[in-house]
Amino acid sequence: MTGQLHRMRWWHIADVLPVERSLFAPEPWSEALFWSELGQVDTRHYLVALSDGEVLGYAGLCDYPDEAFVQTLAVAATAQGSGLGSRLLVALLDEAGRRGQRAVSLEVRADNAPAQRLYARHGFRQIGVRRGYYPGGVDAQVWSRRA
Ligand SMILES: CC(C)(COP(=O)(O)OP(=O)(O)OC[C@H]1O[C@@H](n2cnc3c(N)ncnc32)[C@H](O)[C@@H]1OP(=O)(O)O)[C@@H](O)C(=O)NCCC(=O)NCCS
Repeated sequence: MTGQLHRMRWWHIADVLPVERSLFAPEPWSEALFWSELGQVDTRHYLVALSDGEVLGYAGLCDYPDEAFVQTLAVAATAQGSGLGSRLLVALLDEAGRRGQRAVSLEVRADNAPAQRLYARHGFRQIGVRRGYYPGGVDAQVWSRRA
């Protein structure tokens, strides 16, 4: 059960929020932030994975002038480990390519080994660190990939 990918729309936000809160406590994105992201239609590309209306995962890309940035990537705990994270990431990388972006970057917690393995498998490499960026003083690693 890995779901079908769809463009995320405002009406998905209510079902995305419980997944967001379960995965990104203590600092989940707010409802207002999702609305803001989806409202920036020219520069943002958000996807949601649905199975019978249930949100299994979601991901978003920002198209900056010089590079694209993975804003978020999330798979519900019950759906992890079956390739959905990879599918969402590949879909964002494809979109970055369609927009003419060769470089895609992202931030990941230094203690998030599963996410780092996923990014490494898809050609990302760590290029920097933001010390103490996350709650509790956890470092953010900056990773980048060039097509
Ligand atoms: C990081 C995250 C997005 C990965 O999503 P996922 O759907 O579990 O990713 P995948 O299934 O593509 O890959 C995860 C593992 O499952 C394995 N896998 C993939 N398809 C599989 C399958 N069909 N059968 C068995 N295992 C499989 C992969 O090999 C991978 O193994 P690894 O952890 O040893 O590298 C997810 O764990 C998550 O949402 N975490 C919480 C939020 C988060 O940290 N987001 C990233 C912020 S930077």
